[in-house]
Amino acid sequence: MAIVFLLIILIVIFNVPVNSNIGGESGVLGDKDIINLDEGTYLQAYHTPGHTYDHISFGLYENNKLEALFSGDSFFNAGIGNCYSGDSKIAYNTVKDFYLQLPGEVKIYPGHDYMQTNLKFSLNIESDNQYTIDLLNDMQKKQPGEVVTNIDLEKKINPFLRFANNKIKESIKVKFNLSYLPSEEETFLKLRELRNNW
Ligand SMILES: [Fe+2]
Repeated sequence: MAIVFLLIILIVIFNVPVNSNIGGESGVLGDKDIINLDEGTYLQAYHTPGHTYDHISFGLYENNKLEALFSGDSFFNAGIGNCYSGDSKIAYNTVKDFYLQLPGEVKIYPGHDYMQTNLKFSLNIESDNQYTIDLLNDMQKKQPGEVVTNIDLEKKINPFLRFANNKIKESIKVKFNLSYLPSEEETFLKLRELRNNW
């Protein structure tokens, strides 16, 4: 009985998941939770499922304005994370309802630098995208980490943000030999499928 009571207190006060197998936790962050750093400077947690079901990204606010996003393995420069431990349909909703709704100037700092590979994949889907061609050329002259993208640029180069674009849909139609133009969601899912084996 005492153990059950202690468990309830732990869950209520610290929001410790019952099935947690990670030691040393002092608490669990949920969607919109804030970590204050300084006056007007804070991190805000955002639940961004897809790569995994529990994935959290962190927005960096300076002077109370969202400046950057630490997107972990959920969202990469010119790509998104795989969904082997998550769900591609959920990733689609996260991109549509969260990443695409962010202000254009928000900078993206992901957990890995896969930008060159992602840009090459992007050109495989949309070979005449001049923004992608220019960025790939530019990257080859720069040091790793020197190129930082923002949401505005991602909307031009990242095929996973461009599922509504007819050229991308057309490309998916051809690659999968479809008799119809795929929907936005199907385009996204097929892009993920292609990237898994690329
Ligand atoms: Fe990772």
